[in-house]
Order: sequence, then C-alpha cells, then structure tokens
Amino acid sequence: MDRIRIVGGHRLNGTIPISGAKNAALPLMISSLLTGETLVLENVPNLADVALLTRILANHGVDVTLEGKRKSAKPATGQTLRINAAEIVDTTAPYDLVSRMRASFWVLGPLLARCGEARVSLPGGCAIGTRPVDLHLMGLEALGADIAIDNGYVVASAKDGLKGAHITFEKVSVGATHNVMMAATMAKGETVMENAAREPEVVDVAECLQKMGARISGAGTDTIRILGVDRLIGARHAVLPDRIETGTYAMAVAATGGSVHLAGAQPRLLEAALDVLRSAGVEISETNDGITVSRNGAGLRPVDVETAPFPGFPTDLQAQLMALMLKADGTSTIAEKIFENRFMHVGELARLGADISLDGDTATVRGTEHLKGAPVMATDLRASVSLVIAALVSEGETMVNRVYHLDRGFERLEEKLTACGADIVRLSG
Ligand code: UD1
Repeated sequence: MDRIRIVGGHRLNGTIPISGAKNAALPLMISSLLTGETLVLENVPNLADVALLTRILANHGVDVTLEGKRKSAKPATGQTLRINAAEIVDTTAPYDLVSRMRASFWVLGPLLARCGEARVSLPGGCAIGTRPVDLHLMGLEALGADIAIDNGYVVASAKDGLKGAHITFEKVSVGATHNVMMAATMAKGETVMENAAREPEVVDVAECLQKMGARISGAGTDTIRILGVDRLIGARHAVLPDRIETGTYAMAVAATGGSVHLAGAQPRLLEAALDVLRSAGVEISETNDGITVSRNGAGLRPVDVETAPFPGFPTDLQAQLMALMLKADGTSTIAEKIFENRFMHVGELARLGADISLDGDTATVRGTEHLKGAPVMATDLRASVSLVIAALVSEGETMVNRVYHLDRGFERLEEKLTACGADIVRLSG
C-alpha cells in the first residue's frame, strides 16, 4: 500500500494548476446513461473515483474511451472522455462496486428514466456519518417510481415511465438533487424541486443536461424546474474547476506561508472559504486566470466557522481549515453542521501535537508553535489531505499511511506540491 512521506517546514511558492471537479465529473459521467448518443466530457480529473465509476458504467454496458491529446490542449487540462451508452445491457449496480463509492448510487435516477427499472445496491463511500438515501428515494417515488429494498438493494421500477411532480426536500442534499434532476429530464410533464442543492456542481450538471436537450431552469437557486423531454442527445461539456481542490491548496499555502498562483481556479465558486481565509489574515488576489494566495510574514488570526450547504463554508474543506488553524495565534471554533462523525482527522492531528477538543458538532482548535511529524493514517478523502497540510507545517518527518483515500480525490497531489517547494514523496508498496 502506498504511503506519502512529508518533511515539513518549507514555504510554498509557485503555480498549481487546478483540476476538473471530481464532484461534477462523477454525476456528469452518470448523466451519459440518459442518452444513446455520445457524451464527450473534457477536463475530467484522473482520479481513482473516476476509474471506479468507469467500471461501474461499463457493467451497465457503457463504453468509456479516453480521447487522445489534442494539439490545442493546454498542459494540465485533464482528460477527455467519450462516453457512449447506446445500449444499457444491465440495470443492476452491484454491491461490490457501489459500496466503494457513494456517488455511484446516483445511477438509480437515470437508469429508471431510461430503462423503467433499476436495481442498485445501497451505497458505501467515506465513513463520515450515516448518510442515508431517504431523500433520493422520496424524490424518485414522487416521480412515480415503485421502490422496494431487497437484500441491501434498492429495486425500483416505473413501467409506464416517470411523471413530473412537485418535490420539496426537507433537507438540502447534493446527491438527491443530482439523482432526481437527472431522472426528471425524461419524466412526462413538469417537475419542480424545492430546497434543491445550489452547489456549483449541480449547476454544471444542469448545463450539460441542457446541452443534451433537457429543459431545466433555476439550477443554482433553491428551486429547480424541469420540463421532461422524450429523449436526450449527445453533447460536449468541460468539467468546471474543483473548488475543494482550490480551497485545499489555498489553505496549504496559508499554513506554510509563501505565495502560490492557483491557475484555472474560479473565486466565485468558493467565496465563503476565501472570506474565511481573508479574515485569518491571508492575502487573496484574483488574476485573469485564477487566484493568488499569499501569506508573507503576517501571523494567522483564529476564526469561528460553521459548515453549511453552498454558498456557505463547505464541509469538504472543514478538515483542511482545522489543519490550518493549528498554526493560528489563538483559539478557533469549527462546527460541522452537515455530517455527524466527520472529525476522524482530529485524533490523527493530535498525533502531530494538535490541541483540539470536541464537544458535539464543534471542535475547539488551539493554535500552537509546536507541531512535530509522526506516522498518521488517512481515514477519508478530505481528512487525509488535512493531514498533508498539517505535515507541511510540522517539524521533521510525517508518514501518511493509507493514501488511497487521497487518490480518490486529489490528482497528482505530490507533483503539484513538490513543484512549489514542498518536500513530499510517495513510497510505493
Ligand atoms: C456530496 C459530495 C460530498 C459533500 C456533500 C455535502 C459528491 C460526490 N459528494 O455528497 O463531497 O461532502 O455533498 O456537500 O458530490 N442526507 C439525508 N438523506 C438523503 C441524502 C442525504 O439525510 O437521502 C443527509 C446526509 O446524511 C448529510 C446531508 O444530507 O447529513 C447532506 O448530504 P448530501 O448533500 O446528500 O451529500 P452527498 O451528495 O452524499
């Protein structure tokens, strides 16, 4: 199993290219199930989750091919996938695949819409709380699907097709919004989704579906309206930049000090996180092709932050902010309001000398000058990268074990950090 060795104490300076967003690439790939024509996706990050979803789609009969490099392509613009679901040969998504990545559960809506049936294993994914799927099922039932749970599988059918409905989600769910939005594109009549997720990745998927012929309005607000169409067609779409990767590197630079240009980053995708960094004393400037993050000399001020659905501070940056606040001149509080049990990194950060106490959903983080490298274990995707940030500012060597969690969501992490002066290497085996 690969490990990553980091020797802390180096400032970061240089440029980091921002990859396409994992959390948009996955539902975009899944939306290919809605059409028999080819969907071409550009700027897809090269990640373990993308490879796993390729296998899951292949099991349904979907061909995913990698398009060769084009002369005009800029370096680091990600891969281009050609995805063709001309014939769906199997409407079952099996446990051994779905249990490894929660987002693969989202094939349920598109399979139902296209084939009138689907049998999808209940999901697994990062161990960050119970993560039920009741909102997905409620939404699809409202569209007229018959749903039963059998042997750990959701068995859904809509023999006469799905029908538009008025759906109000009692809680904001990114996944349920994607799943129901995809299904509703081919339901008869109008669907209105209230209290829908406003995340930029939902907007990106809606834009791609529109190119495929879907009639969607309101994506990016909490009310999305969809007028069903009979069929969708092929399209070409470029995945938007990854706001979580952007925020992660911004926090890494804020922690180590130095100045890094995050090329291709879009500040409008993460204003809440950039505001928190500014209030901590980090300099953020927007350039014509990204963001420059700098901290030269100034100390870090503590912050009080709560995670919230977009446009609030993202739960996917909570662990990274906690690592950053280990270096603040004072005490910060960070409240996790989206997922219970998303504090697995706290015990690992403590191994580096962090002083963090937990009370319910709130962590109190006391800044310290004395972080010291140690062996630590990656526990989930975002928690793992918080360990990398903490290691970059710890004295001596940190060994991060179980880095396959990192490979699920961060493309070429060691390479990107090494190019900016970090001492970080992957040890294979
Ligand atoms: C997505 C993201 C993940 C991010 C999360 C919140 C992807 C691939 N993953 O996950 O990185 O951390 O949004 O921004 O895009 N819930 C229910 N019932 C449901 C569904 C969700 O109660 O049927 C709850 C969850 O337990 C959680 C909250 O709603 O407390 C938000 O979850 P949700 O937005 O659905 O997260 P995911 O879509 O799984």
